Amino acid sequence: MGETSAQAAQRVGAGFTATVEQYEGALRYNLDGVRRLVASLPDGSYEELLDVGCGTGWATLAVAERFGTRRAIGVDPSRGMLEKYAAAVEAVGVTAETHAADVLEMPVADGSVDAVISTMAFHWFVDKAAATRAMARTLRPGGVFALLAGGEGVEREYRELLESLTPAVPERWIATYDRGPTGLAEMQDHLEQAGLEPIDIWLEVRRRQTPFEDFLKRMEVIGGHLNEGVDPEILEGHRRRVWEATKAASDAQGRYEYTFSKLFVIARRPTVGVA
Ligand SMILES: C[S@@+](CC[C@H](N)C(=O)[O-])C[C@H]1O[C@@H](n2cnc3c(N)ncnc32)[C@H](O)[C@@H]1O
Repeated sequence: MGETSAQAAQRVGAGFTATVEQYEGALRYNLDGVRRLVASLPDGSYEELLDVGCGTGWATLAVAERFGTRRAIGVDPSRGMLEKYAAAVEAVGVTAETHAADVLEMPVADGSVDAVISTMAFHWFVDKAAATRAMARTLRPGGVFALLAGGEGVEREYRELLESLTPAVPERWIATYDRGPTGLAEMQDHLEQAGLEPIDIWLEVRRRQTPFEDFLKRMEVIGGHLNEGVDPEILEGHRRRVWEATKAASDAQGRYEYTFSKLFVIARRPTVGVA
């Protein structure tokens, strides 16, 4: 049997706690996507916010800046992330409540928040349909759902590079891509099953060039949990081969080109038909 949602959350969360100090530096380019998602939210009053897979708080801070949110609930299995989240959110005058939990087990009441946001976390959720339902149930009628996640085709060159290596890298380095990215049609199904009405859904696919060392640094920061249980010496050998192969696949200036694909979703819990 595969891993449960709660088991995956614990494993992934521990990985993010281990790399929390490098998170904002290595992932800073994600901030742009978070801000654009928030800029696309419909005008409204979002006083009570739920941020799922909240990390260090980028999404909550962006919503609070635009809408003057007063109370934010941060859910994340990583205690290291939650500490940073509470400090950052409280620093701008928003009352923070945090829960170290998996998306399917978050202790948040049904119909209790004006908006749910989840940025760059959905691709880690094992059961995306159930996760969408779990987030949707917390919304008040008329409440808004906003999601940013790795989209179809993301880093497909890197996946192929990993698959080409001998000796083979740990299977989960590759399997993580099977579980991850979501396409438009699949997302529409999740929304429908969760009783949410799409407002706007779009996939942005770009080609990105980045110094290959920065690309690999990011992979280390987000994939800390993928190395769990691997013998340190063997791990070092894998890292060396991946480093050499990525360098060889880069241009003369050491820039690695890859597919950067992001799924943006804005939806609403309908008010009609709700007592
Ligand atoms: C790449 S970070 C994104 C953090 C933040 N939302 C941002 O945009 O910077 C992904 C976050 O999702 C959290 N996460 C992973 N699996 C989760 C799950 N099953 N339930 C809730 N959060 C989860 C991780 O611990 C991590 O903090």
